[in-house]
Amino acid sequence: MKKLLISTGGGDCPGLNAVIRGVVKAAKKSKQWEVWGSKEALNGIMSDPPELIKLTPKKTAGIHVKGGTILKTTNRGNPLEYPVLQDDGTWKYVNICGDVVKKIKDLGFDALVNIGGDGSQKISMALNKLGLPVVGVPKTIDNDLLGTDLTFGFSTAVQIATDSFDKLVTTAESHHRVMIMEVMGRDAGWIALHTAVAGGAEICLLPEIPFDLKKIRKRIQKRYTKGRGFVNIVVAEGAKPVGGEAIGQTSGDVGDRHFKLGGVANYLKFKLEEAGCKQQIRTTVLGHVQRGGTPVAFDRILATAMGVKAFELIDQGGHGRMVSLRNNEIDSVPLEEAVGGNKFVGKDHYLVHVARSLGISFGD
Ligand code: F6P
Repeated sequence: MKKLLISTGGGDCPGLNAVIRGVVKAAKKSKQWEVWGSKEALNGIMSDPPELIKLTPKKTAGIHVKGGTILKTTNRGNPLEYPVLQDDGTWKYVNICGDVVKKIKDLGFDALVNIGGDGSQKISMALNKLGLPVVGVPKTIDNDLLGTDLTFGFSTAVQIATDSFDKLVTTAESHHRVMIMEVMGRDAGWIALHTAVAGGAEICLLPEIPFDLKKIRKRIQKRYTKGRGFVNIVVAEGAKPVGGEAIGQTSGDVGDRHFKLGGVANYLKFKLEEAGCKQQIRTTVLGHVQRGGTPVAFDRILATAMGVKAFELIDQGGHGRMVSLRNNEIDSVPLEEAVGGNKFVGKDHYLVHVARSLGISFGD
């Protein structure tokens, strides 16, 4: 019997459990592999004793419906920059990929399925280069990974954001208010764009299209003078003003990166009021609600299909690749294609055009 290890790394994402179950079921069918999970990404492998879970069809039955990951996850302990506390109390960051590969092999594993975002796939690439057969599975609610048309978790996040948006529309309408809803999307505005079109926003602000406050004010004013006495705005956390930096993020650790909670939504409110906007403005920061709960059917299906494909690649020796969705087919790409950048919303993307046709302003 060969042994396969699964790891889930980075932020959680609806559909992770469906991938795990897909791998386990496909492996069971092959009768050649047993599957284990490393707890909290690859930290489970490196802890002493290792924290591993044997993943059987019984253990994973029905988990595709559940959000999060039964293996737990973390964005700490990246083996490419592993934090080591020095005698003087400062931290040094070292590459421990060689140790990780040795430990995985010493524990009798033949291959790894690494489910995660850009950072995790960089780790996949490094481990694979060191002689461990690795297949990556792309994960992020932001849908900004290169090499795949879609990532699981994205549709769930858009659904949650749209449901919230719909609720904010009725309260905005009742109070004649301006509602600003901040969604995730540190680097790319896919969630914001899709939510704005699905919900019918008046204004949508993305990291890719810097906004001009004057244009936003004008659009708000137009809505009020035309008799529609309320405005709903969707803003991605990474949105920035023309010529400026991103204002802040929905989330982050203190000291980890510069941030202000609910930064951009509150910045907008402040700036609009400062500029004399007479309407009442309220902000809502959705935050991690977008990553929680049960995955929508589409994400369960996509994640399951990606899990099955990941196992097939491992079984057929197709390692060094990341599973992907391309032109409606489950496919795979070399790991190199998936790392080193983001898939941004292009100014000419068809949905940007659709949004503009609907009268949605990007503040540009
Ligand atoms: O990368 C996905 C993402 O959801 C970003 O949109 C967001 O900025 C980030 O995760 C939040 O991460 P954390 O849970 O570590 O605060």
